[in-house]
Amino acid sequence: MKAELSGGIAVLDFGGQYAHLICRRVRSLGVYSELVSYSVPLEELEEARVAGAILSGGPASVYSKGAPKPDPRLFEGRVPLLGICYGHQLIVKAAGGVVGRSSRREYGRSQVKILDRRGLFQGIAKDGLSCWMSHTDSPKAIPRSLKVLASSDNSPYAAVASSTKPVYGVQFHPEVSHTESGQAILSNFVLGVCGAKRSWSMEGFRRSSVAELSRLEGRVLCAVSGGVDSSVTAALLNEAVGRRLKCVFIDTGLLRAGEADHVKEFLGRDLGVSVEFVDASGRFLSALKGVADPEAKRKIVGRAFADAFEAFASEKGPFEHLAQGTLYPDVIESGRSKGPASAIKTHHNVGGLPDDLSMDVVEPLRELYKDEVRQLGRILGLPKKVVGRHPFPGPGLAVRVVGAVTEDKLRVAREASMIVEEVLEEEGLYDKAWQAFAYVGDDMVTGVLGDERRVGHQVTVKVVESVDAMTADWSRIDLDVIERISTRITNEVDGVVCVSYLVSSKPPATIEPQ
Ligand code: XMP
Repeated sequence: MKAELSGGIAVLDFGGQYAHLICRRVRSLGVYSELVSYSVPLEELEEARVAGAILSGGPASVYSKGAPKPDPRLFEGRVPLLGICYGHQLIVKAAGGVVGRSSRREYGRSQVKILDRRGLFQGIAKDGLSCWMSHTDSPKAIPRSLKVLASSDNSPYAAVASSTKPVYGVQFHPEVSHTESGQAILSNFVLGVCGAKRSWSMEGFRRSSVAELSRLEGRVLCAVSGGVDSSVTAALLNEAVGRRLKCVFIDTGLLRAGEADHVKEFLGRDLGVSVEFVDASGRFLSALKGVADPEAKRKIVGRAFADAFEAFASEKGPFEHLAQGTLYPDVIESGRSKGPASAIKTHHNVGGLPDDLSMDVVEPLRELYKDEVRQLGRILGLPKKVVGRHPFPGPGLAVRVVGAVTEDKLRVAREASMIVEEVLEEEGLYDKAWQAFAYVGDDMVTGVLGDERRVGHQVTVKVVESVDAMTADWSRIDLDVIERISTRITNEVDGVVCVSYLVSSKPPATIEPQ
């Protein structure tokens, strides 16, 4: 636990996908928050002088063998406590209530009715809130020592509070952006119930990161791709280690159009960072040849990156450190958080580097989410064109080409994606979307061109809205705009005969098609 946790909030990690997101939401209230082990003893929290503790959600059932349990003295409420989902069920069970399996999984949005505003719902004017649920178990009976604050059709005890202690529980996820007034509920707990100290800021994060990074000894190699994360990492390191920083741009053959020029312009010219360009596209594409499995593709790209870094380092080194712009969602979705979260995808920059890499990996952004990184980028003075850029996955177009990667499919995905971005820019919709791109697979459909039958690619366009990429919704853009995109793609991208628009949210889909 860090010293900053004094007056802040400890989040006990029971392995839920959203555990770290709770920390991020608490930070956005200006309060320091850290993810700690679920088994942390009460004394440690008291010694760290935390203002409160939150028990995260998690995949276990409170009755199952080996279910993770916190220090039982936490339920005494000496430190104010909020339980979320699994954490809520732990609180109910510890108080003598009954938790059971629901007749059906409650997943997605649920209407929650506020019955009592004490503590958590103060100042929230609406009586009903649309809340994000994701559970199979829920409380079936609560003891007299707990009061019901809110209920839903499937969860009669959707929110509870102790009558005598600062202990609260919610069945839904206030940290998820889809929960209406979720941030207000968290704020009521963190600032209201706990009286936490508002001492965290992005400016403070920048100062402490620069101070920490400047203690690195030796030279630092930073891989840049033109994306927001690696650009912010490079700018932060530039401030911290100055001339000991060398950036390398590796052309994988899997990038968006025009990335090298973009990097030359703002990193090389504007920030004066030393950047070298390496064309490794041949190596990446031949390693990917014939491979269709998405996880295999990610691992191959990760390995090829590591080889390219090593080759560069042995030629231009020595470098003691390799810096990467890994963000928290990359860590959590690769299943590498402290808790028992399951792996969803291997994000190349966390899953692909071999253990025997000759450099120490430095990931200064690994606690942050994308919107926080953008905020940091603005503080560091990066241009709007850079900080506002849509995220692009590390494995690049390899995961936007479904099935085996071929030059033809790469060209289609690259050209069609550029059209999607251009049309959205022209319509003033680019900044509203989280990500917008086109992807292509092996579907070949029959079309007609002039009087001739012609078999060609089917391209899928995806425009999604999100706050942090943990959940996402498809964007309800105007049908005329979709039509413009579609017409331009079929007219301008050789070999495409039809275009579809994707209308699934995350979950159940993920943002990238692979
Ligand atoms: P998914 O597809 O998992 O993506 O919903 C969530 C966010 O992460 C990006 N993404 C990646 N970023 N390496 C990265 O650096 C990766 O391997 C990777 N895979 C997905 C994705 O673009 C979205 O913003």
